[in-house]
Amino acid sequence: MRTPLIAGNPKMNLTGKDLSVLLTALKNEQASGVWKADVVYCPPFTLLRQAEEILRGGGIGLGAQNMHWESSGAFTGETSAAMLAEVGCRFVILGHSERRALFGETDAMVARKARSAMTVGLVPILCVGETKEERDSGNTLSVLSRQISGSTAGLQPESPANLILAYEPVWAIGTGQNATPDQAQEAHAHLRTELKNRLGETLAEGIRIIYGGSVKPANSSSLLACPDIDGALVGGASLEATSFVGIIHAA
Ligand code: PGA
Repeated sequence: MRTPLIAGNPKMNLTGKDLSVLLTALKNEQASGVWKADVVYCPPFTLLRQAEEILRGGGIGLGAQNMHWESSGAFTGETSAAMLAEVGCRFVILGHSERRALFGETDAMVARKARSAMTVGLVPILCVGETKEERDSGNTLSVLSRQISGSTAGLQPESPANLILAYEPVWAIGTGQNATPDQAQEAHAHLRTELKNRLGETLAEGIRIIYGGSVKPANSSSLLACPDIDGALVGGASLEATSFVGIIHAA
């Protein structure tokens, strides 16, 4: 049985004040309710320390949205895995489609980052997903195969808990047009088969594959009910406690 995981990715949004209000509400909500899902929140770098202070001692995990693959050195403007771990992160989003499309990240770079994250015990939330053109031309599954193979090169998680995969079709991100449960389930099942081939049955059966792309409280139950969808990576709906909590409750 895989425990569902709901991760919030506010991207380059939120002031410190917004974040305090949001995380305090989440923490209170968690203390008063019964959540079946693991919950992770990934604020911008500048708000990580503040987030850690608010979340300390509770059950909500802290993650970052990116990192560099080197552990230290002359890389102006970059942040290493060890720096994220030091500030209290346990997770890091890697290879988000915005990083791939806008900042030139390749599968090889994502794989280097993922290997570096694991050396300090950070759990990568590794993102893959096809564009609209790739889907329309019938190439979704082959694109996913190529991305998973490149982005997990040389990666050997010790346990299923050490890696999370996120299927995020590019055309569904921030568009309000989520993948249907059938489309998402097909992609997730394919990704799990790829993981089996690469890492073996036991690891692949335990690794969580979460869906991202216009997840909202209204569509989350049907997506999360699919056998291979083990949670959600939530952008827009994680900016506000009510909608994020609605998705957590659907898990
Ligand atoms: P969205 O973003 O929920 O706003 O579509 C998801 C993501 O980019 O992770």
